Amino acid sequence: METSNKRLLFPLLVNHPHFIYLDSAATALKPQCVLDKMNEYYQLYGVNIHRGVYQLSYEASLAYEEARKKVADWIHSQEEEIVFTRNATESLNKICLMNAAMLNQDDEILTTEQEHHSSVLPWMHLAGKNQCRLRYLPLNESGEITVEVFKNALTPKTRILAITYASNVMGTITPLSEIIRIAHQNNILVIVDASQIVAHQRINVKELDCDYLAFSGHKMYGPTGIGILYGKSKLLKKLDPIEYGGDMNDDVDLHQVTIKPIPHRFEAGTPAIAEAIGLSEAISFLEEQGMDVIGKKEQTVHQYALNLLSQIDDVIVYNPKAVLPIIAFNIKGVHPHDAASFFDGNQIAIRAGHHCAQLMSKWLHAPHGTLRASLGLFNTKQDIDKLIATIQEVIHFFKGA
Ligand code: ALA
Repeated sequence: METSNKRLLFPLLVNHPHFIYLDSAATALKPQCVLDKMNEYYQLYGVNIHRGVYQLSYEASLAYEEARKKVADWIHSQEEEIVFTRNATESLNKICLMNAAMLNQDDEILTTEQEHHSSVLPWMHLAGKNQCRLRYLPLNESGEITVEVFKNALTPKTRILAITYASNVMGTITPLSEIIRIAHQNNILVIVDASQIVAHQRINVKELDCDYLAFSGHKMYGPTGIGILYGKSKLLKKLDPIEYGGDMNDDVDLHQVTIKPIPHRFEAGTPAIAEAIGLSEAISFLEEQGMDVIGKKEQTVHQYALNLLSQIDDVIVYNPKAVLPIIAFNIKGVHPHDAASFFDGNQIAIRAGHHCAQLMSKWLHAPHGTLRASLGLFNTKQDIDKLIATIQEVIHFFKGA
């Protein structure tokens, strides 16, 4: 459906006509076409895959594998390099656990204070167990990751770099290509958390040359319950799965099993079939809308919001240089949860707190975290006008100004 009012593409917004959703960084709303594709699977061929020797099972298997190809083409990888998981968190945990054996005592894992918890906590846990070191790249004065600090942070013991492509708090984009080039010159394995960027910009893993990359379907207008673990095939082939069970094996004997080739060896058990199909449709949706068109529209609304916010003395914006349409801010003297509850009263949903990235709140010296307004392709300047009007109400209510 071609329409300039993008709200009409999202049933949730149609059902709540006065609701202003400014929390797309937490999860993107689902367009009708994604819901329809998932229903179509359940209603027309909703049976198990890779197992049934009957027509509908072939159809379901085909749709599931076509979804894999769709994801692979979309990020410029091979199909065998795409593993379906539950979400980016599961992908990042699996990458960590499956590579744990390469780390020796005193080896260094490099990461950043921008990371979402799912990109840093698995490594923190592993470092504690393996007695290796977790080190943080210093951020620059704007809270950004730079090539310069990365170069300076390297030591001969650095083995792993776990790094975000874009911060879910700051909306900044990491200069990954150059960082990855330098990392590889130093034999460092690079794991990228791409969860926050997928709905806004194209990803090309071949050009990036990252070793592993993870994202979730639900942040890109797809369903919850489906995530992507991309790994270079030469690396995936060397890894042992951490989950064993149905459909990942070939021959099973009393005391040994031969496992399937990649990627199926990493997908034990009945997978999220409808969700994979829904994710594939979300990619079609993004392609139809046009990533460039989405980016331009979001930027226009983002700049409009930044400009209005900069005129309010009681508002602190922490990331005026954000590239992605994410605004982390606070209203001086007002706890972010109090402010967010007030917004809720006006049917405006924004996130408040640490955004699963507490290290960033600490870096920003925002002990209670921040408010975060994050845009989707359906947001308009009118949504921002309502946000600004509510900020004025909050200031008036809490501060009597
Ligand atoms: N990680 C999600 C966010 O940034 C939930 O809000």
